[in-house]
Amino acid sequence: MPNKTLKIISTANQKGGVGKTNLNFNIGCMLAEKGKRVLFIDNDAQGNLTESLLGTKEDLTANTVDLYLNNNVEPTSIRKNIDLIGTNSNLAEIQTSDFEIVFALDHAIEPYKKKYDYIFIDCGPALGHSLLAALMASTHLLIPIEMDGYSASGMEELLQNVNVITSKPRYNPSLKIAGILINKKPSPQTKLSKQMESMMRELYGDLVFKQTISTSTSMKECAMPGIGLPITQYVAKHKKNDKAANKVVREMNCALKELNKRLGIDNKKVIRAKRTVKSRAKGAAA
Ligand SMILES: Nc1ncnc2c1ncn2[C@@H]1O[C@H](COP(=O)(O)OP(=O)(O)O)[C@@H](O)[C@H]1O
Ligand SMILES: [Mg+2]
Repeated sequence: MPNKTLKIISTANQKGGVGKTNLNFNIGCMLAEKGKRVLFIDNDAQGNLTESLLGTKEDLTANTVDLYLNNNVEPTSIRKNIDLIGTNSNLAEIQTSDFEIVFALDHAIEPYKKKYDYIFIDCGPALGHSLLAALMASTHLLIPIEMDGYSASGMEELLQNVNVITSKPRYNPSLKIAGILINKKPSPQTKLSKQMESMMRELYGDLVFKQTISTSTSMKECAMPGIGLPITQYVAKHKKNDKAANKVVREMNCALKELNKRLGIDNKKVIRAKRTVKSRAKGAAA
């Protein structure tokens, strides 16, 4: 039986460098810190997520290409609550395979569904077979965006793809957009980024996360190969007294709360339930 509360979240945007991989990595690792079981699937031939988590993309034992080819794949354990199916440039061949390959990922991840609370699929910038395959397999799509004038232009095409996928029963009618998350916001904000942000909010309304994420060297550093720590742990370990670093940690915590709300996970309920257990335990001890 698949885990009923399982969320399968793809990060996608046709623009490169907006933070798809970084936010995928950070949000997944922050959830793992909170005790959630997380599987990462690197679905971008550049293998950046694999490098962040594993430090390398050479000699992979668990490879996304094998998932597509329906071979048995045992995810690599990275640390507590975090597993990875990594990738390298071999994944590029999926883009030129027959169209039927777009159904392969959905089928292949079925056996993992009962083992995890979240599956994060990191997508590359191309609107090709591997992006379609991820969208077929996902419950939600998270769209990171940067306020630089180009990010918004690919958005319509991506949303059209989502419309196609949700309109055909054979595809994925239940796919939902978790939201558009503004990343790499300059601090202080520039005139252009202010204008872009209000335009995005006017165009896409509630689809845009209220919380935004600032540009921060710590966000870049934490995901570097060989470091691979979520921003929360990285700042606690290396940048404890750095104001800007702590600000981005707060932003990421708020973004995660907002994401959970958007996914229909009631944070308050979880906290309340824990309190009830505690107060019952106290009562029993008295
Ligand atoms: N908020 C941020 N502040 C600073 N650097 C960031 C931020 N988000 C992402 N980055 C960095 O920007 C670069 C591109 O991000 P990445 O996640 O690889 O983008 P994409 O996957 O969309 O191509 C990476 O070096 C990444 O660590
Ligand atoms: Mg990437």
